[in-house]
Amino acid sequence: MKKTVMIATVAAMLVAVSMPVVAQAGAEARCKSCHNFSDKNKVGPGLKGVFGSKAGTHAGYKYKFTKYIKGDPWVWDEAHLRAWILNSKKAVKEFTGDPKAKTKMGAQHVKGAKADAIIAFLKDLK
Ligand code: HEC
Repeated sequence: MKKTVMIATVAAMLVAVSMPVVAQAGAEARCKSCHNFSDKNKVGPGLKGVFGSKAGTHAGYKYKFTKYIKGDPWVWDEAHLRAWILNSKKAVKEFTGDPKAKTKMGAQHVKGAKADAIIAFLKDLK
């Protein structure tokens, strides 16, 4: 009985200790499953230097959405990134002007303060 209580207490303490760490992890952590914050490509292209760059131009990455771009690609500024991380599936149609345009990146539904934090993070990622 005593042992059970102790285990429960230790477990509760561990949760208490690890919680703030999770809460403090950058909002960009959710992008990490698919992106590196370096030049290296993963499931998605490496995001280093993406802010201010032309869409679909990261070296060595095989994009899906680039085949729908007519003319010059858009530049990843704040407005484009905001729309992209909210709903890339919808944004790609707007940005290309092609209602059939598709992207491999699923809609992330990131908005508000989280979106602000991620965009600020990407801006600094040089
Ligand atoms: C489930 C995997 C996945 C997650 C999670 C994800 N992405 Fe992506 N992302 C991709 C893929 C795949 C592409 C390439 C899309 C294509 O080729 O159509 C991409 C493309 C991009 C691009 C275009 C880059 C370029 O070179 O033009 C940006 C910007 C981007 N992602 C930002 C983000 C951010 C910021 C997050 C976190 C909020 C995020 N992604 C989360 C998979 C993901």
